[in-house]
Amino acid sequence: MERTRWYKDMVFYQIWPRSFCDGNGDGIGDLQGVYEKLDYIQSLGADGIWFSPLYPSPGIDCGYDISDYMNIAAEYGGMEWFRKVLDGAHARGMKVIMDLVVNHTSDEHEWFQKSRRRVDPYTDYYIWRPKKANGKLPNNWDSNFEGKAWQYDPLRGEYYLHLFAVKQPDLNMDNPLVREEVKKVLRFWLELGVDGFREDVITYISKAEGLPDDHLFPVYKGMPKYNHGPHIHEYLSEFRTDVLSHYDCMTLAEAPLVWPKRALEYIRETPNSEIDMMIQFQCMCADCLFSDYFHLPFSLRRMKRAFSSWQNKLEGKAWNMLYLENHDHPRVVSRYGSEQYRAESAKSLAAAYLFLKGTPFVYQGQEIGMTSWYPEHSDMYEDVQTRNQYRNLPESRRLPKLHQASRDSARTPMQWSDEENAGFTSGKPWFYVNRNYTEINVAQQENDPESVLNFYRKAIALRKALPVVKDGIYRELHPLSNRLYMYLRQTKQQQLLVVCSFSSKAERFRMPKGFTSGELLLGSYPDEEPGVLRPYECRVYLKQGD
Ligand code: NOJ
Repeated sequence: MERTRWYKDMVFYQIWPRSFCDGNGDGIGDLQGVYEKLDYIQSLGADGIWFSPLYPSPGIDCGYDISDYMNIAAEYGGMEWFRKVLDGAHARGMKVIMDLVVNHTSDEHEWFQKSRRRVDPYTDYYIWRPKKANGKLPNNWDSNFEGKAWQYDPLRGEYYLHLFAVKQPDLNMDNPLVREEVKKVLRFWLELGVDGFREDVITYISKAEGLPDDHLFPVYKGMPKYNHGPHIHEYLSEFRTDVLSHYDCMTLAEAPLVWPKRALEYIRETPNSEIDMMIQFQCMCADCLFSDYFHLPFSLRRMKRAFSSWQNKLEGKAWNMLYLENHDHPRVVSRYGSEQYRAESAKSLAAAYLFLKGTPFVYQGQEIGMTSWYPEHSDMYEDVQTRNQYRNLPESRRLPKLHQASRDSARTPMQWSDEENAGFTSGKPWFYVNRNYTEINVAQQENDPESVLNFYRKAIALRKALPVVKDGIYRELHPLSNRLYMYLRQTKQQQLLVVCSFSSKAERFRMPKGFTSGELLLGSYPDEEPGVLRPYECRVYLKQGD
């Protein structure tokens, strides 16, 4: 089937279901809640939804530990509500993509339970290794979440590999039967009408032959042996040829530690490219090294370098996925912006990425400038990764670090109104609501034309109205500035100039040559002060002709 690459015209909204909206009052976000908010999502100008996992799951990693791939969890409303949401989205011209998590399953998945008992054909569905005579583990790899990557199973009498939590055993993708299972899952959802997949840590699915020890990496030991492993392209091509190519669908691959050159091996636009877009992590490393774990002060230059590198290196070859938030990182206003200038910095961050070339993703709550959550004790955190992070530090040192790095910072319930529980549920919320919901919420921002929410709406509408945002060449101005981010988007007919301040002081700036006649299309302050940008001010100008 022809690939129309429809995603290039779209803006996606990411729903992390547990915390989005509770429709039945049990304290957990669900699809009934999503259904009620479809108009709201559409009102943003978003025309695609990415659902973080909705499948049945014991929930030790909030759904990224799946126990049944072809169903929807009862707590989210089951298949019946999923169909309603899917139809409701399609009726509004919106697309829906699912999270495909096939590097690992839950240990409660039937396949794993049978594999432990050596029931055929499941015996080799997972990566099992016998005990070594010297009592050592099968290799020295670390788990991304808890300790070493191996767990002994007394029932089978062998170790299994888990790159994430102990309850998330890795599938053995080298087994053709496992790949057939993945294809069945893909077909199942595509036949049901979903429009594509976000593929969870998909670059991890092929492990180095013989699972050798890793000597290089001081942390996440093992990663070079399983990230972009030896058969990754073969397996992804197989999924494409056998299933995906029969549908006009989209695939978005999550890829830790990937740079543009490597990404192009997957996403270079050819009729058979394995993947359409990539979630890279460089744009999330402007205040850390490799991952949120190793915190550094925010550097605008690092953020700009990441944006520019991906814009320039993919130009004419592949398509960018654009984002600044998701369920795996603290809120971006708290990281890259300023809680003191919350609304201003939320808008500047929005303009910084919404006018780049690619398909933007907005994470629930980002559009109202939700901030990170700062609990009083580290035992208030729920997330399996957070619970293991910095666990050897004393509480007084651990807590501030978790405030900076925890994924739970962005997993608190969506702030819909200033009513009890932020309007998220009429019951008892499954998780803490950020106390600032009385000031930061959708209802209040609906009524304020200058709100962050209405800024997102205007910016997305502009993006859709202007061909230069989709097609224009990207050019960064003043790359060395650590206070301003300025870029041009250019076609023969139009030029767009985006200027974003990341400074809490007034900053002088000069319009680029020939731009003085540019028309101000969007600004984060109600008026314009020539030559000066106020704290975290951003502006977007348009000029006709080149
Ligand atoms: C990436 C997902 O985004 C994250 O939430 C999850 O914990 C890991 N992959 C493991 O599935």
